Amino acid sequence: MDRYKLPDLPYDCAALEPYVSGKIMELHHGKHHAAYVKSANSTLEQLAEARDKDDFARLAALERALAFNLSGHILHSIFWKNMMPKGGGTPDGDFGAALDRDFGNFDRFRRQLSEVASSIMGSGWAALVWEPIGSRLLITQIYDHQSNLAQAGVPLMVLDAWEHAYYLQYQNRKTEFFEAVWNLWNWADIGARYASALELEIDAGQAA
Ligand SMILES: [Fe+2]
Repeated sequence: MDRYKLPDLPYDCAALEPYVSGKIMELHHGKHHAAYVKSANSTLEQLAEARDKDDFARLAALERALAFNLSGHILHSIFWKNMMPKGGGTPDGDFGAALDRDFGNFDRFRRQLSEVASSIMGSGWAALVWEPIGSRLLITQIYDHQSNLAQAGVPLMVLDAWEHAYYLQYQNRKTEFFEAVWNLWNWADIGARYASALELEIDAGQAA
């Protein structure tokens, strides 16, 4: 079975300073993200063992662990690539037009995403997703890494709102972190994810 792997960061740990400190990136990628990868792999191994032994007593806990750790791995992998040194500004082209269409304008989109991140109770993420049934962009508020999702939504742009993403640098001033990341977004990466997601076809009849 292929194991999940921790991807390299596409830039140096300190490259996102002053908005995200190198120490945060070092711990966030090298410890937190790495732990999700390790746990996703070990959960898959435990599921295989359960099938081999026909012993499903711990199945519910394992399924929850898989959803949590694999989602943590996927979201962090996207988050690193969503950001870049000297990023920010506003997107143009088809993706920029889609934001205007579905959120009114860029500033409203930005405000909603930041507010979604700020209003999470506990740990979670704000995420821009492509919803292929209705063919629209949505912002979702994810609890932990895996809950409160509309199914089939494809994550394009994700913002980590867990304390480990900002606390060393921003302490309790998390809204400052949610503002700072707007200097880092890599719109080329996010726009490319949008273009890819448009190709996804999910047959749901006339559901939208
Ligand atoms: Fe995180």
